[in-house]
Amino acid sequence: MTENLKEIKKDLAKKLKKERFEHTEGVMYTAAALAMRYDEDIEKALTAGLLHDCGKFCSPKDQIKLCEKKGILLTDSEKEMPALIHAKLGAYLAEHEYGIRDESILNAITYHTTGRPDMTMLEKIIYIADYIEPNRKIIPGLDEVRRLSFTDINQAVCLSAGATTRYLKNGGKSVDPMTIQTYNFYKKEK
Ligand SMILES: [Fe+2]
Ligand SMILES: [Fe+2]
Repeated sequence: MTENLKEIKKDLAKKLKKERFEHTEGVMYTAAALAMRYDEDIEKALTAGLLHDCGKFCSPKDQIKLCEKKGILLTDSEKEMPALIHAKLGAYLAEHEYGIRDESILNAITYHTTGRPDMTMLEKIIYIADYIEPNRKIIPGLDEVRRLSFTDINQAVCLSAGATTRYLKNGGKSVDPMTIQTYNFYKKEK
């Protein structure tokens, strides 16, 4: 891990709540393991994993306020589902507060919650690492996604997007259209 990354980690340890920081570490090291498996750049995976939830340093209300202040445009479904806002805000903060200029890392942060069709390997790695990291709350199908992540990452993305959709629907929550697009794309890819 570079010195710069260690500095960012120290800063996030102060800014994020304890559980959120533990989850962050879990995502970071899971992303690194997936990067080893799929020949992706380990440093990029660590960086994107470390920063993926940096937008969660404040409440959803304050995240919206900060987006308005910084001129970050939110889609209708993001306004409806504030849980998604931290991804966009996180990419902004990664770039402007933490000096990350690499577009592929910023995109992996932006799409970590919903995924998107035809993701890059780094985007898939962060999407999956967020889902399977060891501290994750157990939801139905998690074991299978964990196993598949290291054998067939496209199928793992398909299963997790499908499980997320079902989980939200069953809980009476709305599903971001991008999550559905992700599911449909990877269902065909399988
Ligand atoms: Fe997140
Ligand atoms: Fe996360």
